Amino acid sequence: MTADPTPEALRQLDLRYRLAGQTADAYHGAGFSVVLQDVIIGRPLADLVDRLAATPLYVVTLTPSAEAIARREAGRAKVAYRAEAASIDALAKAVDDEQPPIGMRLDSSYLTAEETADAIMRVAPAEALVRPRVSGPPAGGVERRLGVELVGGGVRLRPLTPADAWTHLAGEDEAMRAGLEFPRASTVADVMAAIRRWQDSWATDGPVRNFGIRRDHDDRLVGNVEVKLLEPGRVNLSYVVFPAWRRSGVATTAARLALAHAHDALGARHATIKVLPWNHASLAVARRLGAREATPAPTAEDDERYIVFDLDLPLA
Ligand SMILES: CC(C)(COP(=O)(O)OP(=O)(O)OC[C@H]1O[C@@H](n2cnc3c(N)ncnc32)[C@H](O)[C@@H]1OP(=O)(O)O)[C@@H](O)C(=O)NCCC(=O)NCCS
Repeated sequence: MTADPTPEALRQLDLRYRLAGQTADAYHGAGFSVVLQDVIIGRPLADLVDRLAATPLYVVTLTPSAEAIARREAGRAKVAYRAEAASIDALAKAVDDEQPPIGMRLDSSYLTAEETADAIMRVAPAEALVRPRVSGPPAGGVERRLGVELVGGGVRLRPLTPADAWTHLAGEDEAMRAGLEFPRASTVADVMAAIRRWQDSWATDGPVRNFGIRRDHDDRLVGNVEVKLLEPGRVNLSYVVFPAWRRSGVATTAARLALAHAHDALGARHATIKVLPWNHASLAVARRLGAREATPAPTAEDDERYIVFDLDLPLA
């Protein structure tokens, strides 16, 4: 790979990871414990983890320093880092900046190959587990819940996976940061951590039900919608639509589907929507859903900054 890969180079790289994943699964299916080792940085790692069926699944990213890589490179006959390729520094930085927080990292700068393998065997069971063992057909509770899909009005709602993090991040703009009161622009690690928390809540029947919003016809991720159980019978509703897809009814349609889920699956009879007073787009969505301003406004300290809306469920 060069520092500035062509689309064809990326296509071949993707093919290599796909085939590696399929081979690993095939060996695993034949009863082997498989070690799949490759240089995989950034989104392709999340994609590969998403595709692998084998469980249990552990991910370890080795992060030797650039100096250690250069030292090893100088001491061996093989040339892995050619002049025209990305520099060692650039690759080490890419791992720092772009590697999703999946599994564990191990700084192997001062470890031999044997010590590295020992360290992995010692620490990985506790720290690198990404997917626990699933025995029997994958029809367990977690798979069933993570497989929830709600379809209607041209959109499809489904829980997000780590591979969605990059698209989700690309959809973040100032309006989203302001509307949802993010303290700063997100990094891919922030988005990935949020997706993990949402997945955990799905897997453990927790209070948060967060869905990616996808266009029905091409499955493209265009936003996210969430219902969160505040108390028995009441959920909080929030929504985000990425800039390119706003003002065509996506938020309203997705909110309707998520609220139906809140009613049917969480037993919610009421929904709260809290909107900052300047957020005209969000106010319009709340009104479009038929919400009315809560009177008297709920008294939680924080709520004074918001216009608080109330909705009865199921929606008409
Ligand atoms: C709020 C947000 C989700 C709306 O998404 P959307 O898909 O564009 O909303 P919809 O297309 O369903 O619009 C619903 C109604 O709001 C109106 N609307 C949407 N954006 C608007 C805007 N910027 N100003 C005024 N009205 C607006 C629409 O015209 C529509 O009304 P109508 O049915 O009477 O025509 C989107 O603007 C967003 O992601 N904002 C940033 C995140 C955010 O603030 N989330 C809410 C936190 S409380």
